[in-house]
Amino acid sequence: MTEQLRSDGSLRHLLTLEGLSRQQLERLLERSQSFVRPLGARPAMSRTLEGATVANLFTEPSTRTRVSFELAAKRLGAQVVNLEVQLSSRVKGESMLDTVYTLQALHVDAFVIRDAEAGVPALVAEHVAPHVSVLSGGEADVSHPTQGLLDALTVYQRKERFEGLTVAIVGDIRHSRVARSAWHALATLGVSDLRLIAPPPLMPDGGEFPGCARHTQLATGLKGADVVMMLRIQKERMGRGDLPDGERYFAAWGLTRERLALARPDAIVMHPQPMNRGIEIASDVADGPQSAIRDQVRNGVAVRMAVLEEVLGSRGAPRVTGSR
Ligand code: NCD
Repeated sequence: MTEQLRSDGSLRHLLTLEGLSRQQLERLLERSQSFVRPLGARPAMSRTLEGATVANLFTEPSTRTRVSFELAAKRLGAQVVNLEVQLSSRVKGESMLDTVYTLQALHVDAFVIRDAEAGVPALVAEHVAPHVSVLSGGEADVSHPTQGLLDALTVYQRKERFEGLTVAIVGDIRHSRVARSAWHALATLGVSDLRLIAPPPLMPDGGEFPGCARHTQLATGLKGADVVMMLRIQKERMGRGDLPDGERYFAAWGLTRERLALARPDAIVMHPQPMNRGIEIASDVADGPQSAIRDQVRNGVAVRMAVLEEVLGSRGAPRVTGSR
């Protein structure tokens, strides 16, 4: 695995939450929280990253992740370039590195990478110059570390603790990088009752998610949950024959008000988005009083500010010297 930490223990890259300590996660969440502002207020801004340049290199569609990385970088005073690259997989590794070298020559200090193929962020991290950082914006079905952090922050804001919570992750867990990173974050932060609820074809392999209880029925799995984390069906990661029918899926697995009532009365509902309303979640639940879905979006910018500051901030703003 690519080393994410510098020799002094600080974070250089963020490719996965795996291997980060509870203390490191707590510190990132605390810093993230300091960037959260109520809706209607001006967002938090600083000049910590003035002079730094961040490149978003996305080969898979993204709205929230890309925009929130961009806003996070800009609100810290950095410059941002966005590249949506379409590469055939045959030339991908090589072309990706060529693009990275080009941008590096243009003084890019951090790359945010989203790709459908596992290993691409780590490949780039292995080849960048020592002063350059790589952040994953979502890697295949493997991990989505900033999403895991923003999910943990959302849970903490609403529940004010991790210990003693029951968190149910529901739906297409097998193909979900969001579920994998949320699990890493929440288990490390002290949530002990983590449940996976999915129909058998969407349940991950047995060796994965150690310590999680597995339920193949929504009703039993939701009972007493404090947090219900819904997932999108990842059609793009399934073969044609594996695609569940939307209506039938909703009938058996959709989160409706009636089903949500099986969880604790103060349970919160989360979804990383994009949502398939009427397939994995009913609209009145997504927009209802228990929904924390918009908090997740807001927290996304705060978390990405904390992460960018952590990986780039220690270098300080470069001094511009005169030509004397
Ligand atoms: C997720 C992703 O891309 O992994 N979206 C996101 O980043 N908020 C979830 C998804 O696409 O289902």
